[in-house]
Amino acid sequence: MDKLLITGGSRLEGEVRASGAKNAALPILAATLLAEGECVLSNVPHLRDVTTTMELLGRMGVVLTVDERMHIHADASRVKNFEAPYDLVKTMRASILVLGPLLARFGEADVSLPGGCAIGARPVNLHIDGMRAMGAEISVENGYIHARAKRLRGIRYSMETVTVTGTENLMMAATLADGRTLLENAAREPEVVDLAHFLNSMGARVQGAGTDTIMVDGVDCLSGCKHHVLPDRIETGTYLVAAAMTGGRVRVRDTRADLLEPVLAKLRESGARVDTGNGWIEVDMDRRRPRSVNIHTAPHPAFPTDMQAQFCALNSIAEGVATVTENVFENRFMHVLEMQRMGADIQIEGNIAICRGVEQLTAAPVMATDLRASASLVLAGLVAEGDTLIDRIYHIDRGYDNIEEKFSALGGVIRRVHT
Ligand code: EPZ
Repeated sequence: MDKLLITGGSRLEGEVRASGAKNAALPILAATLLAEGECVLSNVPHLRDVTTTMELLGRMGVVLTVDERMHIHADASRVKNFEAPYDLVKTMRASILVLGPLLARFGEADVSLPGGCAIGARPVNLHIDGMRAMGAEISVENGYIHARAKRLRGIRYSMETVTVTGTENLMMAATLADGRTLLENAAREPEVVDLAHFLNSMGARVQGAGTDTIMVDGVDCLSGCKHHVLPDRIETGTYLVAAAMTGGRVRVRDTRADLLEPVLAKLRESGARVDTGNGWIEVDMDRRRPRSVNIHTAPHPAFPTDMQAQFCALNSIAEGVATVTENVFENRFMHVLEMQRMGADIQIEGNIAICRGVEQLTAAPVMATDLRASASLVLAGLVAEGDTLIDRIYHIDRGYDNIEEKFSALGGVIRRVHT
């Protein structure tokens, strides 16, 4: 079982490239099922979740190839299997994203229910309710969603909760539906917008992505296209927080500042100098200790829940006391329990973590529990005294492209050990 071994104490300095966004690449890969021809995707991150999605699509009959420029070619013209089996879905909840495309194009989908995960129950009731409203016959039996539809019909549908993949699934389903669909209380995340751009490049008619109301006029068929996946704002933010925590100076390039304004605002509030330019963001902490900052997570354009764990790590060694309030998921403080083992003074009261910054964390063996929690343990290890050993790092490999190479290039002492 691989582990990450991190020796704390280095100031991070230098430049790192942001990879393509995992949470854009996954729905866009699923959306290739909608096309009658070949799609070519560039800037797709090299992640376990991406390879899992490609395996899932391959089992359905999508022909997938990767060219010498690492562009992914996906041709769904000969799809003949409409099932997303449990053995794959259990490793990646985002497999639910094939439901909308399969229903829209083939009128048939058998998708394993994604189980819960460490951060919460994560139901998919809104995905199912929306597609039923579009005319699909859906039964949930033996852990599978069985969905059939002659042709989905456009509807006006208001989601009771803002759901990112729920919005994405319904938006994809609506592209081939009969008539106009209005999705209200839609998620506004940049990854939803990138998916909409991809769908429109295929010939779909999606308007309003990025606002809380998305309008889709159904068409009869969609064709292949080329698409460059947008940068990963959460990976970007993770490296910027690492710079702030280590008193360093890091520039992230091939990224976009407009994707993570709330995160940059909190970094400035912590005392970091934040500069931005064409495709890059730089944080310079100039050997200073960060100040504690209060965090409240909420759907975009508010502060992203996927950056909450990283700011718990920052607050654990910052000067002062701050609260971190998690408003999206019901159990997203698993990283706090591990940081406490490293000497962090963080108390959890319901959905609020009260962080009292300490001068120094101390290394300890810790365990990754979910994707972003595991990244926050890497950050804690980078500033802790001694050698931190992180177990169950398959969580990290799902969402961070070459994390040890990138941190090593910045001067971090981090390596993968096989035990
Ligand atoms: C997406 O998950 C992301 N994953 C998550 O990133 C991210 O944390 C989350 O959005 C919030 O931004 C992908 O895009 C692949 P939600 P998603 O549906 O869509 C409730 C990461 O680290 N809900 O927006 O599954 C749900 O329980 C991952 O990269 C329902 O009740 O999240 C939650 O409380 C982790 N019923 C809230 O909505 C539903 O049918 C928001 O969840 C759907 C969701």
